[in-house]
Amino acid sequence: MEKKFYITTPIYYPSGKFHIGTAYCEVLTDAIRRYKQLRGYDTYMLTGLDEHGQKIQTVAEKRGLTPKQHVDEMADSAKKLWKLMDIGYDKFIRTTDEYHCNAVQKIVQKFIDNGDIYKGKYEGWYCMPCENYFTESQLVDGKCPDCGREVVKMSEDAYFFNMKKYEQWIKDFYAEHPDFIVPESRKTEIFKNFIEPGLEDLCISRNTFDWGIPMPNDPEHVLYVWLDALTNYITALGYAGDDDTLFNKYWPADLHVVGKEIIRFHGIYWPIFLHALGLELPKQIYAHSWIVMKDGKMSKSVGNVIYPEVLIDRYGLDATKYYLLRLMSFAQDSMFTPEDFVDRFNYDLANDLGNLLSRTIGMINKYFDGVIPTEINVRTDFDDSLEKTIKEQIAKVEQCMDTYHVSNALVELWAIIARANKYVDETEPWKLAKSDEEEDIEKLKSVMYHLAETLRKIAILVAPFMPEKSDEILKQLNLSTANKNWNLVYSYNEIPENTRVIEKGEPLFARLDRDEEIEYIKSNMK
Ligand code: ME8
Ligand code: MG
Repeated sequence: MEKKFYITTPIYYPSGKFHIGTAYCEVLTDAIRRYKQLRGYDTYMLTGLDEHGQKIQTVAEKRGLTPKQHVDEMADSAKKLWKLMDIGYDKFIRTTDEYHCNAVQKIVQKFIDNGDIYKGKYEGWYCMPCENYFTESQLVDGKCPDCGREVVKMSEDAYFFNMKKYEQWIKDFYAEHPDFIVPESRKTEIFKNFIEPGLEDLCISRNTFDWGIPMPNDPEHVLYVWLDALTNYITALGYAGDDDTLFNKYWPADLHVVGKEIIRFHGIYWPIFLHALGLELPKQIYAHSWIVMKDGKMSKSVGNVIYPEVLIDRYGLDATKYYLLRLMSFAQDSMFTPEDFVDRFNYDLANDLGNLLSRTIGMINKYFDGVIPTEINVRTDFDDSLEKTIKEQIAKVEQCMDTYHVSNALVELWAIIARANKYVDETEPWKLAKSDEEEDIEKLKSVMYHLAETLRKIAILVAPFMPEKSDEILKQLNLSTANKNWNLVYSYNEIPENTRVIEKGEPLFARLDRDEEIEYIKSNMK
């Protein structure tokens, strides 16, 4: 049976246009999916929108639209953006979809029947933008600990989920599954802040607004967004619906990718809900960090927001993806700057990768009339070392990707590109070409062969991150895209005899004028 890999993104609030932070999460998830797919997994990727709640209702009202009109518009624009970004999701869930609403009501009814839910009175400090209640002690300087904005004291009749009942269970679960949340620092945080002090029961309903799924037993109350939102990961597969084929095939999720600010919901409440339903838990949760700007968080009021379309239109999709994935470290927030964007484009993409391809294509044309030599009789002094480095680096790329260290994977991959460029300097093919010795021409063949094979490997290795450029490299080498198969990444002798490279390829990435482009990006921050 094929190995399966079910991967999810958070479902985003459709409250405004998506910036590069949201785009990053989507690209990250899609890159992991593409990698798994290349490695032979049957992948399923879920993304979507979290469309209920007071904040959405308020945003819609401000726009003079009904909430439904607003979310319909936002869903169209989200799908359009993910299409522009070539995100290969298998399903786009909207929490207003009828099947989801029905399934959520069934789930809640099950909780009620189990005695997991009771009615009480909720009083607390409420942050409207985050749609989240906080206790006095959780506030930071009297403000919302998540976003720093004003909170209001609110009190209402509400339903609660009995989390306390599962406190020991969750502690035992983590003791047995210490890697459930990565990076480890994120797990430590929720342990210290929420599990060790003792779990609070979770308020799961509101009666102060009505844009939500009604409680099945008491329609005056609508479900608070998190129960509605978290269950998307199973309802999308048909759980508690008409057809649970996908659910049986893909659940449990192999990886939930989420931002670090929502790890509490995914690391505590979600496992407890699943356990209460008698379902298996996801294998792992990766809480990624944030893209920040020089002046802090991206915010429209500061005017430092970058939208993905700005970068994609001017620098191309793959350069934008590469930058976001390379920028963001595994566990730390990372700062976007226009300077860094332009420098990475010029150094990593135009110089390192672009030049390796164009000089290889140029030399094969010049020395062998465009035909990649495949019969190698003599090895150069540098072939062993090149092959050894490539083999080691591929193993490192795999190891990084298997643990979702995507930026590190790119660093390891680029070491192959750097090694290949150095190999050109070491072997000095231009000198070999001028020699009258038979042996030197044989060496020249080995150099061209190795460079072409290295680029073939690079085309496979970059495919999860830069699918278009991967195809373009293969096209310039005149190799079939059937080469995009991870099984072919370690081997040699994969290039057919008489393969004739393109006569003159377009540069993979055309070098940017530094000052001009920094200015361009700055002037497009909104
Ligand atoms: O929290 N850097 O939705 P949301 C990196 N609906 N990632 C960022 C980012 C940034 N600056 N800004 C946003 C919600 N993100 C809930 C989720 S899931 C069952 C419900 C990404 O619209 C990051 O992945 O606030 C974050 O977790 C997500 O967008 C939050 O999106
Ligand atoms: Mg948020």
